[in-house]
Amino acid sequence: MKEKVDILKNVDWDNLTFSITPTRSMYLAYCENNEGWKAGQLEPYGDITISPSAGVLNYGQGVFEGLKAFHSVKNRIVLFRPDRNASRMHESAIRLCIPPVPEKMFMDAVIAVVHDNVDFVPQQKKGSLYIRPCIWGSGPVLGVKPAPSYTFIIYVSPVGPYFPGGLKCLSLKVTNLYHRAAPKGLGNVKAIGNYSAALYPHKLAKKHGFDEVIYVNAANENFIEEVGSANLFVLKDSCLKTPRLGGSILPGVTRDSVIQIAGEILGLEVQETDVTINDVLNADELFCSGTAAVITPIGKVSTDDESREIGGNRIGSLTREIYDILTGIQNESREDPFAWVQPVMGL
Ligand SMILES: Cc1ncc(COP(=O)(O)O)c(C=O)c1O
Repeated sequence: MKEKVDILKNVDWDNLTFSITPTRSMYLAYCENNEGWKAGQLEPYGDITISPSAGVLNYGQGVFEGLKAFHSVKNRIVLFRPDRNASRMHESAIRLCIPPVPEKMFMDAVIAVVHDNVDFVPQQKKGSLYIRPCIWGSGPVLGVKPAPSYTFIIYVSPVGPYFPGGLKCLSLKVTNLYHRAAPKGLGNVKAIGNYSAALYPHKLAKKHGFDEVIYVNAANENFIEEVGSANLFVLKDSCLKTPRLGGSILPGVTRDSVIQIAGEILGLEVQETDVTINDVLNADELFCSGTAAVITPIGKVSTDDESREIGGNRIGSLTREIYDILTGIQNESREDPFAWVQPVMGL
């Protein structure tokens, strides 16, 4: 009980940012020598030991997910579309020769960690509990090959907005210096290496005063793909466009939710198609979507040649509406016609 009070005391609930706050426990399960995943268990949150020749450390054999638990207005804790994260992690694991975690095991493990850390779920309007499942090749390898054993770990952290300032408009740079991912590479799965590749472009963009980078397609540099950790949407003349999947873009859970909200609730025309740099520069509204980013408006886009304000550098009315509907479904203040919200605990 004393330990519980002490960890919670250190959380600044009114000023949560998107950063790690240690919580009570994490979930760990192991798969040894291709013998299948053994039942996992909760352990106190903390450092783990790992072989210096682990596949994940030497060859990046790791995948991860990100989802959130919310304290809803119905005074219960809910998850948002966790089944989509379970199935995406399955796809990611297969691509990296990692034994996939059965989807039921994934769901049970997520629920167990949320239950045990329920007092770390922020109150409504203060934030959410970010849930980070990872699978790592933790067994030793020297030659480049799949690791002999794997660790499935889930840790959680209370978080606030990913982009400081909440719904403040972002200023983005279309980079022609770096690609995030290549067609037929790893961009369409949540491989850990994708994110280290994006660190330097992001650092450069920050240095020049931008919030983030817009990546273009490696095979056709006229087409845009996504932001380092969120998908992109362009509104023009009441048509909402987003880059089509099937190449190197991550199939975002929020992206899919936006498509359904825009098409089925708002009755907009939605196109998953090729989106050009020109489309972005000439948008009426522009926003990005992600579990961490939620819906974040983009008010300025720059290329090497020009810089354009989008919608007067103010959040557009459609962006605001989609934000309100999505967050309303997530916190149960709105009807959930798609059955996306999964309650895990009454309070
Ligand atoms: C590269 C990338 N694109 C898009 C997204 C948005 O995906 P989701 O909506 O599932 O969080 C993320 C975040 O997970 C991401 O890392």
